[in-house]
Amino acid sequence: MQFDTIILGAGAAGLMCAAHSGGRTVVLDHAKAAGEKIRISGGGRCNFTNMYAGPDNFVSTNPHFCKSALKRYTQWDFIDLIARYGIAYHEKTLGQLFCDKSAKDVVAMLLSEMDKVGAQLRLNTHIKSISHTGTEFVVETEAHGANKTLTAANLVLATGGKSIPKMGATGLAYDIARQFGLPVIDTRAGLVPFTFSDGQFTALAGTALPVRATANGQSFDEAMLFTHRGLSGPAMLQISSYWQQGQPIAINLFPDSDPFDALRSRRQTDGRRYLSTVLGYLLPAKVADLIATDLKLTGNLADQSDIALRAICDHLTNWTLHPTGTEGYRTAEVTLGGIDTDALSSKTMEAKSVPGLYAIGEAVDVTGWLGGFNFQWAWSSGWAAGTAI
Ligand code: FDA
Repeated sequence: MQFDTIILGAGAAGLMCAAHSGGRTVVLDHAKAAGEKIRISGGGRCNFTNMYAGPDNFVSTNPHFCKSALKRYTQWDFIDLIARYGIAYHEKTLGQLFCDKSAKDVVAMLLSEMDKVGAQLRLNTHIKSISHTGTEFVVETEAHGANKTLTAANLVLATGGKSIPKMGATGLAYDIARQFGLPVIDTRAGLVPFTFSDGQFTALAGTALPVRATANGQSFDEAMLFTHRGLSGPAMLQISSYWQQGQPIAINLFPDSDPFDALRSRRQTDGRRYLSTVLGYLLPAKVADLIATDLKLTGNLADQSDIALRAICDHLTNWTLHPTGTEGYRTAEVTLGGIDTDALSSKTMEAKSVPGLYAIGEAVDVTGWLGGFNFQWAWSSGWAAGTAI
């Protein structure tokens, strides 16, 4: 069957692109339903954008690449669309916007926008091969009869990254990119919990506290959560996108105040108490116990000189941890790396060397922070390609 545009992937970026592309458009996906990651995102409420979204909230080999699309289709454009559909939303924290009711409203909105321009959606469609005749892309599917072979002048790669293979994530976009000579930046799991050896934190599982997490020169002030396998929570997910295997992570357990002042004044009031007990007044008790064991702290607070207290505080504000790894694609919210932005136009997302081939969304080497930024990239890049086609 002949189309003008074939979009591979009915996720956030693919649906957005379809809603804006002119001509005869078809979206193909091997899943049973469109927008499955939208549906489960934000605990079923979809953190669909961030009021403060800007280029600084993205990780990419070329940090400038995302600027054009983000500027031309902004968070306010998407908020406007949400408002036009009467979808109620609220700010949870740090500019993160969530649906009041259900993420399904966002999927329904995108499908309705697609309908308006007459774009078709074909689910349960397995892609067997892609080729190019010189003028057209040919997509062979496992369907039967007239639906089996589809041709179009434009092919949009919107099959996302490798995160959560159980939900149908595959590396198809990378394979097709390579087939057409586009380089792919090595991929790895992002926004993912850390693992540690020996069940180091098992006894603390479920404990959360605010921290500043630092790796590779980047810091995040957010909550950290101890888990049976290691460390999670927003601070850890955020820093995982900057961390490289083998590197340490520095944790400041007192991101908002200097514990030295607190311990010194406690020395006046609680000098006869064990140092570990007093630490338990300033930190969750289990965390204080762990630190006290780590530092082999003994004796009363009154026994500690200023120099000794300063050394303890240096540890509390620069607790150096060595993760063994991350939970990987199994639980990662995103995939870092992907189709090299050098090979794409930042204005249209079209491959510079292959006219008619486009790449959008998570498949591209642009990865957002936690907090609605990844969907904003999907909307902005999907819009950029859709309106250019
Ligand atoms: P996306 O993954 O959405 O879509 C790709 C589509 O391609 C899928 O429908 C898939 O079935 C299809 N596909 C893949 N391989 C295929 C193949 N071989 N053949 C045919 N079809 C194929 N972001 C955010 O901003 N706010 C949030 O609240 C969350 N929450 C969140 C929770 C969880 C649990 C996860 C895993 C992720 C998030 N994210 C998020 C990240 C966000 O979901 C993600 O960045 C976007 O969905 C990416 O959009 P894409 O359209 O690029 O890929």
